[in-house]
Amino acid sequence: MDKIIYLDHASTTPADAEVVTAMLPWHSEQFGNPSTVYSLGLTAAHAVQVAREAIAKAIGADADEIYFTSGGTESDDWAILGTAEAQQKKGRHLITSTIEHHAVLESMEYLEKHGYEITRVAVDGGGLVDLESVRRAIRPDTILVSVMHANNEVGTIQPIAEIGKITREAGVLFHVDAVQTAGKLPLDVEALGVDMLSVSAHNLYGPKGIGLLYLRKRTRISPLFHGGGQEKGRRAGTHNVPGIMGMAKAFELAGARMGGDADREAALRDRLWQGLSGDIEAIYLNGDPVRRLPNNLNVRLDGIEGEAMILMLDMEGICVSSGSACTTGSLEPSHVLLAMGIPAEHAHGSLRVTLGRGTTAEDIDHFIKVFPPIVSRLREMSPVWCANCACKQRN
Ligand SMILES: Cc1ncc(COP(=O)(O)O)c(C=O)c1O
Repeated sequence: MDKIIYLDHASTTPADAEVVTAMLPWHSEQFGNPSTVYSLGLTAAHAVQVAREAIAKAIGADADEIYFTSGGTESDDWAILGTAEAQQKKGRHLITSTIEHHAVLESMEYLEKHGYEITRVAVDGGGLVDLESVRRAIRPDTILVSVMHANNEVGTIQPIAEIGKITREAGVLFHVDAVQTAGKLPLDVEALGVDMLSVSAHNLYGPKGIGLLYLRKRTRISPLFHGGGQEKGRRAGTHNVPGIMGMAKAFELAGARMGGDADREAALRDRLWQGLSGDIEAIYLNGDPVRRLPNNLNVRLDGIEGEAMILMLDMEGICVSSGSACTTGSLEPSHVLLAMGIPAEHAHGSLRVTLGRGTTAEDIDHFIKVFPPIVSRLREMSPVWCANCACKQRN
């Protein structure tokens, strides 16, 4: 098997060839530092400003509300830790959901260790945050609500505009991790009612190591990085000019292709689910069946470990992910699946397949062909799978 079938676009996407071309001149021809005052630097500064304006327009923001960062993790950390520091006189209570990315959850845990109180709003069986729970969790000392736009594991899309209405009425800042939706769904910070929004370029066919935090005008948050006066003194560090150029090109391409990509990927995703569910017994869909990203299929299979499926698919040249994360040598089931009420033994048997621009119908048909025999082989070896038992391992 020579060709790699890449079905892990939620992890990262290949940089588009046009993105790479747009970045090239800014490495060694136009290499000036945008903070300098001679013409080489001014050329770079001008290009950064043009990119900033284009990116701002793509999400309904003003250019001076865009702050370039190193990616989604930094943007999430900055929004949360920066708010906590700047707003601590108002209060020390923050609200998030149980299914956030680790960048959000661990920033919240860090704050908890430093005297802040965190409320983690539960989700339903499809991974959807309940609006009333958010409303009820808000207190006079609440300084931030942080809920992701779409979940990176199960693809569930949250009712962000509705949460934005609640936070606005309550006068509480609202941060949204949009790493999984930028470039896939239309984003408009006004319509969504958000004050801060995180984006990472490598999830939208841009380069790695560049992202942004949208910060609504007059939102008070403390800087995370201290040093030079870049980004109006709020995010120090020499600008990643090639990265910014690449991210601007990635936004431009996404704007032109978004609707078509989504329809095509959703049709292939549905074809995959139909093929697998028709051929494999005891396979279930994880996440909301309707409110989900067009490219995401997350399934769980009784009697098998996600990691075993990944390794066997890798031998077939297919890249996918599991819902589990391997941390410190022990296999922990996904916190997202557990939060959705899926028991640990079932959460272990999950597989995330995320399609992208390069995915073809042939790729999907190949997957449908090679996966069922892998499942059969693994179940034959499984100590918890009994093929003739109607109850399977559920009892
Ligand atoms: C939802 C979400 N938030 C944050 C991140 C972290 O982004 P980065 O890899 O740019 O640090 C990711 C990574 O894919 C993600 O899926």
